[in-house]
Amino acid sequence: MQVRDGHLYIGAHDCTSLAAEFGTPLYVTDEGRIQENFRRVRAALARYSSAFRILYAAKANGNLSVLQTLAREGAGADVFSAGEVQLALLAGMRPEYLLFNGSSKSRADLALAVERGIRVSVDSFDELRQLDAVAGDAGREVEISFRVNPALEVPTHPKIATGLATTKFGIPAGQILDAYREALSCAYVRPVGLHCHIGSQILDVEPFARAAEVMVRVAGAVTDIGVDLSFLDIGGGLGIPYRRDADSAPGFEEYADAVMPVVLEGLAELGISPELWVEPGRSLVADSTVLLTGVNSVKSAHKRFVNVDAGFNLLLRPAMYDSYHEVVVANRADAPPVQEYTIAGPICETGDILATDRMLPAVEEGDVIAMLDAGAYGFSMSSQYNSRPRCPEVMVSGERKALMRRGETVDDLLATMEPLPWHQGAP
Ligand code: LLP
Repeated sequence: MQVRDGHLYIGAHDCTSLAAEFGTPLYVTDEGRIQENFRRVRAALARYSSAFRILYAAKANGNLSVLQTLAREGAGADVFSAGEVQLALLAGMRPEYLLFNGSSKSRADLALAVERGIRVSVDSFDELRQLDAVAGDAGREVEISFRVNPALEVPTHPKIATGLATTKFGIPAGQILDAYREALSCAYVRPVGLHCHIGSQILDVEPFARAAEVMVRVAGAVTDIGVDLSFLDIGGGLGIPYRRDADSAPGFEEYADAVMPVVLEGLAELGISPELWVEPGRSLVADSTVLLTGVNSVKSAHKRFVNVDAGFNLLLRPAMYDSYHEVVVANRADAPPVQEYTIAGPICETGDILATDRMLPAVEEGDVIAMLDAGAYGFSMSSQYNSRPRCPEVMVSGERKALMRRGETVDDLLATMEPLPWHQGAP
């Protein structure tokens, strides 16, 4: 992001012009930024070893074009649903570069994984038995990891701390050996991996090092009972500095420096050499994207509200996690801040606030507000609440720009609704 002649730019493109051309609200993603982020994480890990794989967490931004950008860089994906599996394959990712995660998969999900040759991260004994049966029905072997619950406290919002002993995710460490023993005795399941994910938006690398220690310890124990590990997946979770001036976020190098020695030395001591897999989501895509939202009106009440055309229907994070996103008036990006404003969406809920008490230049109807760092868990968590069609998404890449998703219309809202037979004719 840059400011030129008073306007905010994303890559080579003036956000104000994009808003005029495509309308607001509008998501705009810079492909170059995603490529850069991917290459940085790859280079940081490659300083230690070539035995690693980067599985992009598709839930962060599941647009097919984003998946294609990453597939072309060589990424695989952490996929959490049949939809994500299909999109990742369509994007050109190889089945062996996918891991089907999730604590609640259906038999249909398991059958899809078996059919497409995708490894599954199994989250319960029940799921293991179902998967063995499903794979048996198909007459095909399936490779798995178990998701370990590492019982770690991590410094992040409680709703996105996933490695606590009390979360719904993973198999408690005390049961994990029994899980592998049972998997070893299954006819159609072959345990080859070990998986964990401790949480998201973590701004300190130390928890990742601790998770790596737990994983190495478990790797030793499962190796001792006869499991031949081919990968160790430590999940995603590296945070980004949403408060661009105040947050200090570790870079990919710092992350690699914390994790890689623990893993490599630990595995060397055990005398095994599984690949290390990581599942970054946010850190690859968050800062690639802005949400541009138009100002409908400004209101002076107990505070000054800027009423914009995007709300938590399009960017849920502030309402759901009290998340902070930087706000820039895109068409007046270098004007001095003069006034505190609260940016309010159009949704019929008190909690529909995108940003609170921000010092901004004077704002008026027709201005374009940019919500920064909206590329992760932005569009992917959007909804049609209040019967608002979702907005379009544009990708820019160098001088190029194109829609990567058209905006929905009211016809799209209606497309899946069925008229009831008993509502035909007069009441
Ligand atoms: N692997 C697994 C198994 C995950 O569950 C997740 C995220 C990731 C990888 C990627 O984590 P990341 O690198 O993006 O932190 N909606 C929330 C974040 C939810 C994260 C869910 N799992 C937010 O907007 O902050």
